[in-house]
Amino acid sequence: MSLQFQEEDFMGIDRFFQEAVYHDDTSLNAASSIEVELYEHEYMYPTFARVARESGNEEVASMFDAIAREEGEHAELLRKLYPQLEVKDSPETLEAKRLVAEIESQMKVVATDPRGLKRALETALEVESIEATKTYPAFAALARSQGKEEIAQAFDEVTRSEVRHMHWVQKALDRLCTAA
Ligand SMILES: [Fe+2]
Ligand SMILES: [Fe+2]
Repeated sequence: MSLQFQEEDFMGIDRFFQEAVYHDDTSLNAASSIEVELYEHEYMYPTFARVARESGNEEVASMFDAIAREEGEHAELLRKLYPQLEVKDSPETLEAKRLVAEIESQMKVVATDPRGLKRALETALEVESIEATKTYPAFAALARSQGKEEIAQAFDEVTRSEVRHMHWVQKALDRLCTAA
């Protein structure tokens, strides 16, 4: 089986993020966003960094490494506010891990196909854009409406970081498309 890069959804990863982050309760939001951040930190960005590295694009690989580190910091920051939360794998995170494992298992195909790195960047851009403009601003507003200012400020801080990621990824994608 080979990867189908023409598919709109990068092996289901885009869909995972869209489904994982929308809940209407602040506590559920926090649990869900911690899951997403951990997933990005542990699986998605390390995998994308390998795609970039094996494609010979060290600059983009370093960017993905940096984003992966910061996603881990987001998870820690969010987790500090919810020491009582136990974050366990949901069917969605298990599915996302399976999808990333599939990319890992086909790393040679992904890395040698010029569309592989482009799709990784496009997926990252979509994920970061959703987080920067929808998810975290919405969480901050919700927490604020419930009088939970400390939580709202943590979400503001994460929002600023996701905006930075969105800009980094957009620039990398622009450079890749210009070079192609
Ligand atoms: Fe993040
Ligand atoms: Fe991010």
